[in-house]
Amino acid sequence: MDLYEYQARNMFAAHDVPVLPGIVITSTEEARDAARTLFDGGASLLVVKAQVKTGGRGKAGGVKLATSVEEAEEKASQILGMDIKGHIVRKVLIASAADIAAEYYFSILLDRSNRRHLAMCSREGGMEIEALAVERPEALAKVPLQAGVGITDEVARDILSAARFTPEEQDSIAPILVKLWDVYSREDATLVEVNPLVSTPDGEIIALDGKVSLDDNAAFRHPEHVELADITAEDPREAMAKAEGLNYVRLEGEVGIIGNGAGLVMSTLDVVAMAGEDLGVHPANFLDIGGGASAAVMAKGLDVILGDEQVRSVFVNVFGGITACDEVAKGILGALELLGDAATKPLVVRLDGNKVTEGRAILEEAAHPLVHLDPTMDGAARRAAELAAAEKAAAK
Ligand SMILES: Nc1ncnc2c1ncn2[C@@H]1O[C@H](COP(=O)(O)OP(=O)(O)OP(=O)(O)O)[C@@H](O)[C@H]1O
Ligand SMILES: [Mg+2]
Repeated sequence: MDLYEYQARNMFAAHDVPVLPGIVITSTEEARDAARTLFDGGASLLVVKAQVKTGGRGKAGGVKLATSVEEAEEKASQILGMDIKGHIVRKVLIASAADIAAEYYFSILLDRSNRRHLAMCSREGGMEIEALAVERPEALAKVPLQAGVGITDEVARDILSAARFTPEEQDSIAPILVKLWDVYSREDATLVEVNPLVSTPDGEIIALDGKVSLDDNAAFRHPEHVELADITAEDPREAMAKAEGLNYVRLEGEVGIIGNGAGLVMSTLDVVAMAGEDLGVHPANFLDIGGGASAAVMAKGLDVILGDEQVRSVFVNVFGGITACDEVAKGILGALELLGDAATKPLVVRLDGNKVTEGRAILEEAAHPLVHLDPTMDGAARRAAELAAAEKAAAK
């Protein structure tokens, strides 16, 4: 789970990482109150920041300064509702602005390819760290971390000297890196990034931006993280599937895919991708209804996929094991009945394994106009891709 900047900021504050006072708002009225509170609290300048889970907010016009309550309100109204790379801004952070002498970059992340944690640090922080990493990689220090040690004061100094910070700068920044390791390890994060980490003219070090990704596999250790989930920003189909206990991932394509078992679903994605290559169609999702899936579960899965407007055809690929094919066949028909006129997309069904003869017989007998049976996985994939391509062409 990725956190919003304001959530990362709160988490930093809880681990004693210095941040500036800020208030999250969702309307211009709240912006006015927040700005007034911050000015009354001693702020002389405010920054109004879009809260979206994507980078490059500043460049997109989602980070603006405000010198008065009125200006903060006006900037907030410009930013609320803004579309930043497909993310609509619904929350805005109003924070005290820092007096910036220098902007640095620091991050800790799980380096999967090398199977270890990695710290990255640069004197040249700000908005374009990706470009810096490509154009001048020597300006970005990368220091592998030992999981059992993490970032001690000594390790922090190693990181900072690799990034060419002076000993004086190391004195003031090292304690903050130690605290950021605390955030990373205690909160079970896979990414903690601060860009920029700034120093003020008085030599104070402050985290002005924060990006945190939490490890969902460790969620059971953190009941307190549940409230960080933002249900409104979640894909509604993914939320619906999650509520039904289905394993669903939405992709950008036209052929919906349902299968039982992650291995089968993944190979179904491959055959559909291959079959659709020349036709310009792609898998629209990954949906695993699980090993012992019942008819009811199949119905829920179909409901999720058929409601996705990008889907043009659906490939149901089931290998009957614990789930018998006759149950699956009944589930498909039951789902179509439940959906009624709402079901308009063709389904290509490939059944095999336990009770396959019975399952196929049920579908043949029902002869539903939307259901196409195909005995092989490759054949069914091609059929589903062709149907999707035809529907796509017809829709144009
Ligand atoms: N509280 C603040 N006070 C002063 N300047 C700020 C403050 N917050 C941000 N800025 C300035 O705005 C720039 C961009 O802010 P920030 O890093 O939060 O967004 P971003 O980098 O554009 O977004 P993202 O991190 O999503 O790519 C910072 O580099 C800094 O110069
Ligand atoms: Mg930033």
